[in-house]
Amino acid sequence: MEDRTITPSISLPSSSSLPAPEEDKSVLQIWGGSSLQGQVKISGAKNSALVLMAGALLCPDDCRLHNVPSLMDVARMGEILLSLGVKLERHGDTLEINASHIGQSKAPYELVSQLRASFFIIGPMLARLGVARVPLPGGCAIGARPVDLHVQGLRALGADVHIEHGTVHAYVRNGKRLKGAKIYLDCPSVGATETLMMAATLAEGETVIDNAAQEPEVIDLANFCRAMGARIRGAGTNTIVISGVPSLHTTEYTLIPDRIEAGTFLVAGAITHSELSLYPVIPDHLTAVIAKLQAIGAQVITEAPSRLRIVPGRYHTATDIETLPYPGFPTDMQAQFMALLTLSEGDSVITETVFENRLRHVAELNRMGADIRVKGNHAIVRGVPKLSGAPVVATDLRASAALVLAALAADGMTTIQGLHHLDRGYDNLELKLKQVGARVNRIIDNPDAASDASTPTLSPSTLH
Ligand code: EPZ
Repeated sequence: MEDRTITPSISLPSSSSLPAPEEDKSVLQIWGGSSLQGQVKISGAKNSALVLMAGALLCPDDCRLHNVPSLMDVARMGEILLSLGVKLERHGDTLEINASHIGQSKAPYELVSQLRASFFIIGPMLARLGVARVPLPGGCAIGARPVDLHVQGLRALGADVHIEHGTVHAYVRNGKRLKGAKIYLDCPSVGATETLMMAATLAEGETVIDNAAQEPEVIDLANFCRAMGARIRGAGTNTIVISGVPSLHTTEYTLIPDRIEAGTFLVAGAITHSELSLYPVIPDHLTAVIAKLQAIGAQVITEAPSRLRIVPGRYHTATDIETLPYPGFPTDMQAQFMALLTLSEGDSVITETVFENRLRHVAELNRMGADIRVKGNHAIVRGVPKLSGAPVVATDLRASAALVLAALAADGMTTIQGLHHLDRGYDNLELKLKQVGARVNRIIDNPDAASDASTPTLSPSTLH
């Protein structure tokens, strides 16, 4: 491999400098009632960035990722990679990763506990080194988030995997390679599909993953791995076939745009009765969301191959939503759509089938005057004529987005606490909203937190 020392331009903030949730007292103030107009730039997909950063561990060479969003979760995944001895450098939205020397097979608990997606490193580490020790990712606000399907699949690939003292210890006996296997997933888990696809790229022989997840981010990962020389077919269907190769090679790859950020801004247009254009987007990734916007009376127009425009209806009517694995309605858009339905005429039933505790935004929306009742995994939303601004607290990433959307439409001012949730998954959301006319202001109670949180940067101190 060409030995190019990457000159550090900036380094990741150390996790100690990132605000612990309880420390982040920053507050978002939003004055509702403004109509929005203009164009929103959609960033690269968070759920591609996190898994592709882990996927770069498969490559004993430089990898370059373009269109990487500036997010807290990306900064934290970068911390995890740095802790393994990986070289990392960020130039704008390009991330240069060099995993030629992985000096450490154990990820530190204090980092893994802050980012569930860090569990993605287990597949590549096992495939590359034959050993991986990764703390069990805890549950989170939306559910227990088990990793049993990941573990079962890695065992099927020939790894010895046991869990001790909260850490998953995985290794391949006698320094052998993983062996291809036929794996059936009890549920089409995105993470398990991605973990096993990455592990199988360097396994001996062929692996078949049945009942695989079909999300666009799974396809993005497969395309990235294929660009590194992996042999994968069927990504985007429920059966993925991987033929192992001895090693992968350098590549550079551009991430897809974030379909959930795009969906969030489509809803922002609808809920404020404003026309907004979004660019770049991949309309096919938003079929279910667009169908539901049309069902309530809005229009979504494809202005160009990668540009969408939301045109709100004079008024919106109720519709039912059931979250399902892709290509069904995405669970990551459930909270945002609920905010919209609180102001739609009639009763809507929202059924959350993917995660067991992803209706926590209901209480906060009701504080703003919504009329929502929860029965099991169903939320019955009765449309009301208006919402009123109120102090609310975000409970998880997509709940925070739902509260922002509700605040944009509410009478008066809303203050939103718990911004560390928002900053995990949205790239400069308030700046993008301000640019199209929203009245949004971030009050910084913890100056270090806000600067680190909203635009994670890299500085020379810790770059290798
Ligand atoms: C990914 O999470 C996304 N995160 C989530 O986005 C998204 O909501 C989810 O897929 C579903 O689309 C990333 O890609 C980083 P799953 P993941 O494994 O992989 C159960 C956001 O807001 N399950 O598809 O964790 C699990 O409990 C985040 O951007 C097992 O039982 O989701 C859940 O009920 C939130 N055992 C269901 O499968 C396992 O081993 C779907 O989970 C794995 C999962």
